Amino acid sequence: MLYIHKEKIENYECYEFEELASTNDEIKNIKDLSLPTIITALKQTHGRGKRGNTWEQVLGNLYFSYNIELSPKDLSKLVCIVGLSLAKTIKELSPSLDVKIKWPNDVMVNNNKISGILIENIKDNYWALGIGVNIVASPNINNTYYQATSLKEQGVTLDRMDFLRYYMKNFSNYYKKYLELGFDVIKKEWLEFAFKLHNTITIQNEKTSKKGEFITIDDNGYLILKTNNKQEKIIAGDLFI
Ligand code: BTN
Repeated sequence: MLYIHKEKIENYECYEFEELASTNDEIKNIKDLSLPTIITALKQTHGRGKRGNTWEQVLGNLYFSYNIELSPKDLSKLVCIVGLSLAKTIKELSPSLDVKIKWPNDVMVNNNKISGILIENIKDNYWALGIGVNIVASPNINNTYYQATSLKEQGVTLDRMDFLRYYMKNFSNYYKKYLELGFDVIKKEWLEFAFKLHNTITIQNEKTSKKGEFITIDDNGYLILKTNNKQEKIIAGDLFI
């Protein structure tokens, strides 16, 4: 399929398509995975979310994926860097908004989800980072606990490509900081955005449900939950209140 527009964003070559099945699939098809590439589309016909959910299509919202090379042991930290970069971008656009990151990386505004991230392996140490941001409208999400919102509903009007440029600037800065100074700086800023930090939360995954106090994240970005006076490290799961 042919792209409709191409531009340089940070050190990435960004290709914009009219319609794709999923930008995550397209990024997996690029020939040279070592070239930093962004794929974005006005429309996804088979956009997908976490756990096989559908990511609904709304014209004007932002859908993009980019590639990154990283050892699997650092993936949980990358998840935090991506969430932090998104939260920071939204906060900079409108400082009065209540922007939070729901561990590990859902971005919330006024308790409603505004953005989702899907990280998939391409091959070896190459990863596809797929991000959806509700710019103009919020589709219904299949979740009884949280509703969705959009930047427009929150009083922020901007073009999807401008959001992408802001986000990539923040991501490149944070990633550079992480490589130069380590995860500590990221962790500190991430915790300032943490949804329900020091509150009682429930973490659910396919098999278990654990209730406790959200103490912090550790040096890998894993959640530390205090249950019955002992601290447990949570590697994966969904956070509920
Ligand atoms: C989630 O369930 O929260 C993750 C949603 C990720 C959606 C984005 S949109 C761009 C990229 N392409 C996809 O098919 N999914 C991701």
